[in-house]
Amino acid sequence: MKICCIGAGYVGGPTMAMIAKQCPEIEVHVVDLNRERIAAWNSDSLPIYEPGLAQVVEEALGRNLKFTTDVDAAIMKADMIFIAVNTPTKTFGVGAGRAANLEFVEKCARRIAEVAQGHKIVVEKSTLPVRTAEAVKRILSAANVDNGATFDVLSNPEFLAEGTAIDDLLNPDRVLIGGESEAAIKALADVYAKWVPRKQILTTNLWSSELSKLTANAFLAQRVSSINAISALCEATEADVDEVARAIGMDSRIGPKFLNASVGFGGSCFQKDILNLVYLCEHFGLREVAAYWEQVVLMNDFQKRRFAERICRTMFSTVSDKKIGIWGFAFKKDTNDTRESAAIYVCRDLLRERARLSIYDPQVPEAKIRADLIASMGNLSGTVSDIDRKLVETNVTVVRDGYEAAKDAHAIAVLTEWDEFKEYDFKKIIGTMKAPAFLFDGRNVLDRTMLNKLGFETFGIGKS
Ligand code: UDX
Ligand code: ADP
Repeated sequence: MKICCIGAGYVGGPTMAMIAKQCPEIEVHVVDLNRERIAAWNSDSLPIYEPGLAQVVEEALGRNLKFTTDVDAAIMKADMIFIAVNTPTKTFGVGAGRAANLEFVEKCARRIAEVAQGHKIVVEKSTLPVRTAEAVKRILSAANVDNGATFDVLSNPEFLAEGTAIDDLLNPDRVLIGGESEAAIKALADVYAKWVPRKQILTTNLWSSELSKLTANAFLAQRVSSINAISALCEATEADVDEVARAIGMDSRIGPKFLNASVGFGGSCFQKDILNLVYLCEHFGLREVAAYWEQVVLMNDFQKRRFAERICRTMFSTVSDKKIGIWGFAFKKDTNDTRESAAIYVCRDLLRERARLSIYDPQVPEAKIRADLIASMGNLSGTVSDIDRKLVETNVTVVRDGYEAAKDAHAIAVLTEWDEFKEYDFKKIIGTMKAPAFLFDGRNVLDRTMLNKLGFETFGIGKS
């Protein structure tokens, strides 16, 4: 058995490394058009920061795992081809801002159709709108007349979360395979069965599988937006959102997970997949259903905006020319991914109030932070005004640790829950800050009682 995976990103890279590690007899080739990314996978500094990933890659690389840019050769050799390319929200044309851009998926399907010979199982790994498999099947069957290739298409969405990807891949709650051909489903199930118990390998029809991925992300995001909505009410009353979360989470029907109030959810999936769901519902004339799910994203926008506004209001209604230390830029801890990170939007809003930001994140490089901030200032077509560009150039510094970010600052804002922040010497930090020293904890991770005793003026999410 030989596997090829098109797309060496946050999904393709770790997933294929795990398959290669667990199945030494299977040759796994991961291909990407991005030369830099492939070179990084083959080097000591992987393109993705993910705890435990380096060891998994190291074990399999050169044995049965290969990262390469030779897409055609890998397609030709493989029995099974995974498509794990990005499917961002469309920024142009019909469905802009909502529908998924399927350009990259379609290009993969066309490439496979062009070069494949014999029988191939094509597996959709990327999260896709329902009935994308139909389009993939049509492209494959229309173009393979000459070379006589035949195809089965399966949907096998990936449920890993960044930061815990290795554990999620090793011990998945379930593996989902949707398809029509029993033989193809069995071939893929046999791969996972090398380490996942059979009873956790679910099979469904193609469309249920595609829709289940969108639904899982919508439900998870909905929980975060629900607790964040309550956090706003907690701030207006004297309730404490962590106490409320604990009290409701002990109800076994609700459960304790995914109830951490925060500055807002980010990541490449939640917003994109919900907007995709909204677009699908509208397409099928289900306006009420579309509006219901859209509210999850609108609540998240409100939460991010509300946090920046609270900082300004608390700091005597002006942050202009005040230094604010920003702790964390990634969308959650233990990843270097910043896609849709709440930090981007909070920083953008503070910059537009003319604050001076000193940003520290343990894993996100300076160039990425600056590029994200500039992109956040753009309109839908990506145009950025000179004033906004200048703001990012002059009012942002990126520093090497949290202490430096806090030095001479009027405030600190915690935007990602990195563990190291809890270990900092806050006595030392307050000594270097301007008074009153404000601390806005957008993740509720710091010990506010201790900080208040030291003299900080602290504010948490959902805390009165
Ligand atoms: C998510 C899904 O969990 C995963 O199954 C899917 O495959 C991809 O999308 P990911 O985006 O990597 O994974 O991370 P996740 O842990 O779900 O967190 C998403 C966002 O929600 C983060 O910004 C996180 O900080 C935020 N979040 C999560 C909260 O604010 N509160 C919570 O209680 C949980
Ligand atoms: P995800 O989080 O879904 O894995 P990423 O953006 O991290 O998304 O990774 C997707 C990868 O797919 C990128 O590295 C991109 O270069 C690659 N890619 C996109 N289109 C193609 C294509 N037609 N052929 C090969 N690789 C592609």
